[in-house]
Amino acid sequence: MSYANSRIPISAQPDVHAHLVARVRTHLTHPFRKPFADCNRLARDRALAGWDGRAPLILDAGCGVGHSTIELARAFPDHWVIGVDQSEDRLQRRKPYPAALLPANMVFVRADLVDFWRLLADDGLRLARHYILYPNPWPKIGHLGRRWPAHPVFPFIPRLGGVLECRSNWVVYVAEFALALALALGRPVPWSAFEAVRPLTPFERKYRDSGQILYRLCVDLDAAVS
Ligand SMILES: C[S@@+](CC[C@H](N)C(=O)[O-])C[C@H]1O[C@@H](n2cnc3c(N)ncnc32)[C@H](O)[C@@H]1O
Repeated sequence: MSYANSRIPISAQPDVHAHLVARVRTHLTHPFRKPFADCNRLARDRALAGWDGRAPLILDAGCGVGHSTIELARAFPDHWVIGVDQSEDRLQRRKPYPAALLPANMVFVRADLVDFWRLLADDGLRLARHYILYPNPWPKIGHLGRRWPAHPVFPFIPRLGGVLECRSNWVVYVAEFALALALALGRPVPWSAFEAVRPLTPFERKYRDSGQILYRLCVDLDAAVS
């Protein structure tokens, strides 16, 4: 496939999955007790080793090759920015700057977010900002449970607080994420199409350059409900 020819996810599911609400309600009321893998505990320790314990935290969840993590660290120099991905190969890929020019206020760790999110929450940590940029869409109807909004770990995402932003090129994914969050928060979560004038990630650039519509939700989880 050539570079600017990527396709939006093809799915037989035209709208929010019929089972999503029931799934989210179950996850909100039943504790998720999957044991933690030691490698993810170590990743959590590594992610926080360089943190001074005071700087506001930013999590780039599923950061891929990490370009967004670097941009976020540059944009928020007084924050500690953690880029997490399960793929060591992606994390190791060449960065847009030489190592000497990479910001010092960030760290990349390989971990499974299913554990990593819960470990941060169990530590009582709160995020200032949380980015979930172009998560794997899992567009097949039968793969609902693999999408973050329908995954048992989902309730830990709002629990971490901060300004949460999720972006996707599949409108259904963002609609499902917003609905799941609205159920968790008890308030509506707006989302919309947006223009990626300055793409934050390689996937965003590729989708934009392929002429696709991109979708985003951004919500302050700590905002008081009026
Ligand atoms: C479609 S890519 C998007 C990467 C990047 N955010 C971007 O926009 O360029 C999704 C990323 O999520 C990562 N990922 C998927 N499931 C994960 C999990 N359970 N834990 C950590 N990373 C995961 C994948 O390895 C992949 O790099």
